[in-house]
Amino acid sequence: MQPQEVHNLGFDDAEICGQSVKLRPLSEADAAPAWELIHDNREILKWLLWDGPSDQAELAETWRERWPEEMRLGRSYHFAIEPLEEPGFAGVITIKLPYYPDSVELGYWLGLPYWNRGYMTEAIGLACCFAFTCLDAVRVSSTVFADNFASRRALEKNGFVTDGRLRRDVFKFGQWQDTFFMTLLAEEWLESHVEPCSVRLVPHVEPPGTAA
Ligand SMILES: CC(C)(COP(=O)(O)OP(=O)(O)OC[C@H]1O[C@@H](n2cnc3c(N)ncnc32)[C@H](O)[C@@H]1OP(=O)(O)O)[C@@H](O)C(=O)NCCC(=O)NCCS
Repeated sequence: MQPQEVHNLGFDDAEICGQSVKLRPLSEADAAPAWELIHDNREILKWLLWDGPSDQAELAETWRERWPEEMRLGRSYHFAIEPLEEPGFAGVITIKLPYYPDSVELGYWLGLPYWNRGYMTEAIGLACCFAFTCLDAVRVSSTVFADNFASRRALEKNGFVTDGRLRRDVFKFGQWQDTFFMTLLAEEWLESHVEPCSVRLVPHVEPPGTAA
């Protein structure tokens, strides 16, 4: 099965709210603060497979057109992380369906001023809730650079375990990096998860006569 063929439920809108952050769809308006937080910021980019946006317009275009469409079609789900105390954009968490619609993969980053406040731990928990309850996921996984202790810790606090170390898995900024493949299974999540404070979902419905 090719990744581009993998689909799950589509949504026009989705907001999942926790105690300190909420997840909501990204918009064009988030591109300016996101650009300020991430461009040329190696403290963030050194941990990502992505090398960052080439300019602010690229982010704006992707967040206005491509990612809402991906969410509508149920191909991938990209959320802004918004602190409740400081409304606005703080980072991104993404749910992808690399091979199967019910086995999903998380990727994420947070702007430096927002680190170490527990935001990503909660954002991962909210994304897992979306994956397990709205997408019927059987597994959520994440691939983390071996030295990324903060990310590994945020996953572990959500019950993720390390399935294995992939040696020289990624070539990043001129160096090979080992990664850890970390997973959380649906039944493990059920045992220990924290409920979101609120969830608002607007499933996408194709107008009559437009279905393929
Ligand atoms: C990794 C990242 C998402 C963490 O977000 P965050 O909101 O700061 O994480 P949290 O505050 O929820 O939790 C971080 C945990 O790691 C711990 N931690 C932070 N730095 C650490 C370090 N160098 N070594 C060990 N633990 C560390 C924190 O103490 C905290 O654990 P605790 O609550 O038990 O004290 C953020 O640092 C980031 O965006 N980094 C750059 C991009 C990135 O790494 N993305 C992930 C790719 S897999």
